[in-house]
Amino acid sequence: MPKGHSQTSCAARFTDKVAVVTAAAGGIGGASALRFAQEGAKVVIAMDVNPAVKRMAGPIQDAGSQAACIEIDCTDERAVEVAFEQVLSHFGSVDVLVNGVGGGGGGRNTEFVESVPDTWRRIVDVTLLSTMLCTRRVVGGMRERRYGKIVNIASSIALVPTVKMVEYASAKAGVIGFTRSLAMELAPFGVNVNAVSPGPIKTAAMDSLPPDLIARSVNAVPMGRIGLPEEIASAVAFLASDEAAYVTGQNLAVNGGRALN
Ligand SMILES: NC(=O)c1ccc[n+]([C@@H]2O[C@H](COP(=O)([O-])OP(=O)(O)OC[C@H]3O[C@@H](n4cnc5c(N)ncnc54)[C@H](O)[C@@H]3O)[C@@H](O)[C@H]2O)c1
Repeated sequence: MPKGHSQTSCAARFTDKVAVVTAAAGGIGGASALRFAQEGAKVVIAMDVNPAVKRMAGPIQDAGSQAACIEIDCTDERAVEVAFEQVLSHFGSVDVLVNGVGGGGGGRNTEFVESVPDTWRRIVDVTLLSTMLCTRRVVGGMRERRYGKIVNIASSIALVPTVKMVEYASAKAGVIGFTRSLAMELAPFGVNVNAVSPGPIKTAAMDSLPPDLIARSVNAVPMGRIGLPEEIASAVAFLASDEAAYVTGQNLAVNGGRALN
């Protein structure tokens, strides 16, 4: 078995591990942060621009982990640097990073013929730059320790073209490209980098979309239903665990079969 990997029961896949989850005040990030705590993580660090992230401390601690909740804009280079310096000085190292921050324009999306550079900058910053900035702060330590798990939240929209989603699809396709290329660089160091591409999932981001867009997304899902944040957290936890030690550079679509049609 590779260094640092051991066969453990499913319920304790993250014993002694320090996990950072961004977008942790939200549906998918929150469910993922909680899953790490439920599966024995020593520390779960929840980051989000929304001050409501502080509310994650209670559930994380109730599940038995130490919690740190950091209010931070993950597109702010300096803020990310400072936050990760604090995390590393407090907890020593980061074993797992889940890059959950991303966004697609909140239903104000247009067809490309009306697309403007400001929208691109905003969506690419939130979706791709945030992922780059947070990952950049942990890769050095992971390489040195020859251990680390990075899971990036992409989207099925990067796989299945959708009208009025050009900016978001491009940024999420960037997340998948980032995942694959970084996986190649980090494989010799025993660091796994993977992505999860959710289909339509019941979160505030989904609830904010116009009803016709939600109906269209659900109708396109062969399983005929919207997914739950916990179903994404299951995939995230698998890829962040040692059960997936030999999986890297992959994009796991969790979307009720959306990419099949
Ligand atoms: N819900 C879906 O159907 C769906 C589908 C595919 C992909 N995704 C992706 O899943 C991820 C999580 O989204 P969600 O559905 O849980 O949405 P959500 O709205 O429940 O959560 C998103 C969280 O991200 C935070 N956030 C936004 N910008 C930030 C920034 N700059 N810095 C720090 N935090 C920031 C928000 O405050 C919010 O708490 C996103 O990357 C999204 O693109 C969601």
